[in-house]
Amino acid sequence: MTRAEAARRIADLREQIHHHDSLYYVEARPEVSDAEYDTLVRELGRLEAEFPDLVTPDSPTQRVSGQPVEAFRPVEHRVPMLSLDNTATPADLREFAARLARALPGATFTFVCEPKIDGLGVALLYERGRFVRGATRGDGRVGEEITQNLRTIRSIPLTLRSPLAQAPQLEVRGEVFMPRADFEQLNRALEEAGEGTFANPRNAAAGAVRQKDPAVTARRPLDIFLYHVSEARELGFTTYWETLEALRVAGFKTNPRTERCATIDAVIDYCGRLEAERDGLGYDADGAVIKVDSLEQQWRLGSTTHHPRWAIAFKFAARQATTGVQAIEVNVGKTGALTPVAKLTPVPLAGVVISNVSLHNEDEIRKKDVRVGDTVLIERAGDVIPYVVQVVLAKRPPGSQPFVFPDRCPACGHSTARLPGEAYWRCLNTACPAQLKERLRHFGSRRAMDIEHLGEAVIDQLVDKKRVKDFADIYTLTVDEVAGLERFAEKSAENLVAAIQGSKTRGLARLLNALGIRMVGERVAELLANQFGSMERLEQASLDELSEIRGIGPQIAQSVRRFFDDETNRDVIRRLAEVGVEMTQPGFMAEGPRSLDGKTFVLTGTLPSLTRDAARELIERLGGRVTSSVTKKTDYVVVGESPGSKAADARRLGVTILDESAFRALVGKE
Ligand code: IVH
Repeated sequence: MTRAEAARRIADLREQIHHHDSLYYVEARPEVSDAEYDTLVRELGRLEAEFPDLVTPDSPTQRVSGQPVEAFRPVEHRVPMLSLDNTATPADLREFAARLARALPGATFTFVCEPKIDGLGVALLYERGRFVRGATRGDGRVGEEITQNLRTIRSIPLTLRSPLAQAPQLEVRGEVFMPRADFEQLNRALEEAGEGTFANPRNAAAGAVRQKDPAVTARRPLDIFLYHVSEARELGFTTYWETLEALRVAGFKTNPRTERCATIDAVIDYCGRLEAERDGLGYDADGAVIKVDSLEQQWRLGSTTHHPRWAIAFKFAARQATTGVQAIEVNVGKTGALTPVAKLTPVPLAGVVISNVSLHNEDEIRKKDVRVGDTVLIERAGDVIPYVVQVVLAKRPPGSQPFVFPDRCPACGHSTARLPGEAYWRCLNTACPAQLKERLRHFGSRRAMDIEHLGEAVIDQLVDKKRVKDFADIYTLTVDEVAGLERFAEKSAENLVAAIQGSKTRGLARLLNALGIRMVGERVAELLANQFGSMERLEQASLDELSEIRGIGPQIAQSVRRFFDDETNRDVIRRLAEVGVEMTQPGFMAEGPRSLDGKTFVLTGTLPSLTRDAARELIERLGGRVTSSVTKKTDYVVVGESPGSKAADARRLGVTILDESAFRALVGKE
């Protein structure tokens, strides 16, 4: 390929990729499969590797690029990033409207209302349609340059569509945030990895945006809504509504909950509806923002040094409260992690009474300096677990002492350790009864073995009596034994034993999750079960085999290997098998022929009746592997319609080519 041909193909690929990014990340309606998308990205990567001088910063391959920085460069905003005036009641909103009427007598106003996102304000600068600089709000006048980090956010377009693409300079502002579901998943992963968690999505987003290494930011699930164009009138817009429409056309993500309201009553109605639905938004919004729609009116109203006079924030009811810390206890988790918990004077908050709040770990408790006797401000956002925002220092009683983290396990007195890089102290006693209780509770929980009636009270008694020392012991419990426990009637004893016996057929994935292997939660358990099909095969899997599985990194692989290398663990599994707990994955064909063991496949083009994923699954079930590029070692290339260059590679290298019917014959799915 000549350089000129490459340049044309590169431009074409970039345009296609930008188009699909926009459909996927901004509009949430993808048109191609992940595999087809990956093919485009890989081809672009290959061409750019061959012609490195054709790489530009706005290429989709450059989302994650650049070196970690020592410090962020300060950036002076061309137009200051102001704050917003606040209101909290409908009466305040009417007063806002009255103020507007006084300022511009005789004018009629239209408003635009939108959610006030609880994230981080940022400014994005585009020059002739190319993203050239991103900055934090900072103090409003000077922010920090975080271009590399913002580039990793897939919903930020690197190049714009016309007509905004023509503007010599365009500054748009918006709010970076972390969707709540992604935040919860991130925290679960951090927790499983023994790392510190974030108190709320805002903190997680703030931490991600200010990462010194853009590669770390890229792994954080950030998103953005844009809500402002600086100097929009100079660009020829007359209303804010119209400006938002232009942002959408250019490829920016704007908030779909934005509404235009002709009266202040409609504004009040909007605020009420949004507040009622705030938990269903999928992200944290702490209010609504109301803006005068006409840009001319905005200009005439002007701003104070603090906020524009043409906009106001309607704050939702606080979901914060203050209460006293009566005690700080340290709990022992199922992996031995010591978690400090503040026992609070019970306080109602957003519909529930809060009497405990986790203080997470030693660093967190030290950072916030929470002490017994303190008054703390706590917050509960939506269904998020309550957390301590800060100590109310003005109310700290004299003579209070910082909390001293225990140097022994509070449950069994055994020594503890905090490994390098971990946020938690852990009890080192594998027989620690508190750990065992937590593990048993997890074992029986709904998403693991789902053993109804195996509650805390039963577990405590069984462990304290030393009747249950591991998971296998619970399967030998008899109705008589259970009926002998405190607060257990014959009938409920029967129910519990039946539930225990009924849990034997949950399948491998749930069992793996139930075992509480470090870093193996529901998702990883599922991957392992589908890959290996049986406990026996998993036990024998090498570190390499494990880390080759998509979605399983070297750390998880190591944790799994370490678990199975332990004699005690293997013994428990053997005994679970003896009592009849199912050790295979339903539907897995491991017992059938593994006719493709060791064979590698490459898929290219669209197959008439099979999706990529379905084809991959058929191959993997029979022991084969799917790789992305054709080499001499490839056994088969499955070629569908409009195949890429891989079909040619296969021919050149003499690799066997299969069409769909030949492929079906090979995998026995004719
Ligand atoms: S408009 C001049 N709209 O709230 C326009 N701000 O408390 C000022 N924010 O600094 C901003 N959602 O970071 C606007 N829909 C929204 C917003 C929003 C969140 C943030 C923004 C601002 C802060 C002011």
